[in-house]
Amino acid sequence: MKVGMLGLLRVVVLMLVLRVSSSSSASYSGKQNGRKSMLPVSAQATTSSLMLNRVGNSVVLPLHGNVYPDGFFDITLNIGQPSKPYFLDPDTGSDLTWLQCDFKGPCQSFTKAPHPHYKPSNNPVLCGDPLCKSLHPPEYKCETTKQCDYELWFQDGSSTRGVLVKDAFSFNFRDGTQLEHSLALGCGYNQTPGPFPNPNDGVLGLGKGKLSIVSQLSRDGLVRNIIGHCISVRGGGYLFFGDDHYDSSLVQWISMSSDLPEYYSPGWVELKFGGQPTGIKNLLTVFDSGSSYTYLYPPAYEALITLVKEELTGKSLKEALDDETLPLCWKGERPFKSLDDVREYFQPIALSFANDEKDTQFELPPEAYLIISHKENVCLGILNGTAGMNLNIIGDISMQDKVVIYDNEKQRIGWAPEKNCDQLPKSESTSI
Ligand SMILES: *[C@@H]1O[C@H](CO)[C@@H](O)[C@H](O)[C@H]1NC(C)=O
Repeated sequence: MKVGMLGLLRVVVLMLVLRVSSSSSASYSGKQNGRKSMLPVSAQATTSSLMLNRVGNSVVLPLHGNVYPDGFFDITLNIGQPSKPYFLDPDTGSDLTWLQCDFKGPCQSFTKAPHPHYKPSNNPVLCGDPLCKSLHPPEYKCETTKQCDYELWFQDGSSTRGVLVKDAFSFNFRDGTQLEHSLALGCGYNQTPGPFPNPNDGVLGLGKGKLSIVSQLSRDGLVRNIIGHCISVRGGGYLFFGDDHYDSSLVQWISMSSDLPEYYSPGWVELKFGGQPTGIKNLLTVFDSGSSYTYLYPPAYEALITLVKEELTGKSLKEALDDETLPLCWKGERPFKSLDDVREYFQPIALSFANDEKDTQFELPPEAYLIISHKENVCLGILNGTAGMNLNIIGDISMQDKVVIYDNEKQRIGWAPEKNCDQLPKSESTSI
């Protein structure tokens, strides 16, 4: 779901650039993250008890796309007056929802999009608005009665410049109600693409900040500030807002870390390989649906590939230097047709968490870190971070066949295995 990673596997040759781009999430480098973590209003926003999770106030959206070969996902939302459909890339690594937009701003520049550009209604968010402030560092000065200009950079080098507006979003709630609700979004009139332009109309911001769509819906009492997704290894899946799709007792939970308050971070992680500790530890980690692959910062990446290669020593797999699908691919004696053909060669990897007495683990079976390339080799879907990047990113590949839940109400991240992510959860019953 990567702004920028998208095309990547379509144009296989561009692998090099892929290695530089890592995530569509808004810059981790501080360019625009003067925004602080905020616990979006929730206590007064919802009325039902925390335990009664069948209030029906939730939204489920089908996800389209896959990690490989497409490298991106999208959901469809109806926005505007009159309401029109747009394809949005769901990104838990950034807050702002934005669309390429028909707006007479300076230096218009657009990337290719599947729908005509969104035409904003005449409802600007002003610069004095707290939602506008959350897009800027605290020292940002503006005239409070002027429009809210912003510019965001993404990890893959793409950027968007625009103005913040309000407009009607329509949602089908699970209890059958359909609701049009006014929410703030970005009207982007100047986009610079990353190496692999996003083929969607825009991004669905699902981060922790006030501007995130779910924070806004929760502020207005419509859903709890909880986001979840279920991505199938077969492609497709669903995204949900609200809390009635899982039985919390079946979910493994870990607290969000205060060491990285602006992202969905479980804090510091150690890698296990084949069930054994590896000494690859103190990895500050983020869960990011906006990243198709998983990234380790360079020293950890190098240590991990050493382990993987040692494990393959003496086996029939040979490194496939002619396969540029991803940086590291292996050829078998016979072409690989599916991950079932390679499972025996690869150990499970797991993340274990510092500051966790319960010894919770986030398991990565081979399908959560390998792909079968179009050349019928197996490739490692854990990639090298960029120089200077100290973060580790758990991307879509590693969250497949799990319900992953970002619970902003209780400041925790949860997951549970789920083999049927490509079927929408049936209403009224929990899906896990
Ligand atoms: C990983 O990335 C770092 C920083 O760009 C680079 O110096 C290193 O050579 C890379 N390692 C591998 C194995 O590609």
